[in-house]
Amino acid sequence: MQLKGKIAIVTGGSDGIGRHICLKLAAQGCRMAILGRNQGRLDAVVAETLALGAGEARAYSVDLTDSEALDAAAKAILDDFGGVDILINNAGVWHKTGPLDSISADMLLTTVQTNLTSVMQFTRHMLPALRDGDEAVVLNVVSKSGVVAQAGQSVYTATKYGVRGFTEVLKQDEAENGVRVAGLYQSGTNTGMFAKAGEEVPNRIFTEPDDLADVVVFMLSRPPKIWLHDVRVEL
Ligand SMILES: NC(=O)c1ccc[n+]([C@@H]2O[C@H](COP(=O)([O-])OP(=O)(O)OC[C@H]3O[C@@H](n4cnc5c(N)ncnc54)[C@H](OP(=O)(O)O)[C@@H]3O)[C@@H](O)[C@H]2O)c1
Repeated sequence: MQLKGKIAIVTGGSDGIGRHICLKLAAQGCRMAILGRNQGRLDAVVAETLALGAGEARAYSVDLTDSEALDAAAKAILDDFGGVDILINNAGVWHKTGPLDSISADMLLTTVQTNLTSVMQFTRHMLPALRDGDEAVVLNVVSKSGVVAQAGQSVYTATKYGVRGFTEVLKQDEAENGVRVAGLYQSGTNTGMFAKAGEEVPNRIFTEPDDLADVVVFMLSRPPKIWLHDVRVEL
């Protein structure tokens, strides 16, 4: 796919992996719709993407666990851009590692709603516009936890296995509609995700989000007859 001028939506583009994906796509000349909750971080990423060459960049401050707010943001993006070529479902949260009963009921719901429910709800909104395009892509930033079950990650793993299942079915359902679907299954990445959940991890040895964003650009920018639909990235 030729990326210049393509309309790309990145959920969770205000921080971490999503922010780096926004910066790399901006450098390719994409038009960017960037979602997150924190307005200050979103504004900073919009400024960075414009400086790097984005054809356009707009921020949408939305809590994706609020389904009415999600609906409104999806509508606003389609009104503002008039379509979409690339949807990157990336927003996600981590819960502190531990047995199931150490995870609060609130955290359990937040994790499922952010990592799984909102991915399906948001994609559902975007599908008609994606099908209208000549080349369209849904890329789900999943996790190694979508493929490998690891102790202490019950709820997180359930959401990521869920996104993998969703990705696999979407691939088949949209094959006839010209929408290509992919999942990215990466292991530990050096972002603030774990610290936000109060977890200490050896972040410094993890994959750099900037390098992971290069992988995303590589996946998206292949020639038309090549589609990398499952990519696993390990340390
Ligand atoms: N870091 C890792 O080791 C790792 C490994 C494998 C997979 N992943 C996955 O990669 C994705 C990105 O993770 P990351 O490490 O970049 O995390 P991060 O640095 O914490 O960034 C998470 C992003 O998601 C947004 N977000 C979280 N909850 C949201 C909500 N309710 N509504 C809207 N936006 C929300 C955040 O927005 P605000 O800034 O506004 O809060 C932020 O932009 C996640 O799906 C994660 O599960 C991460």
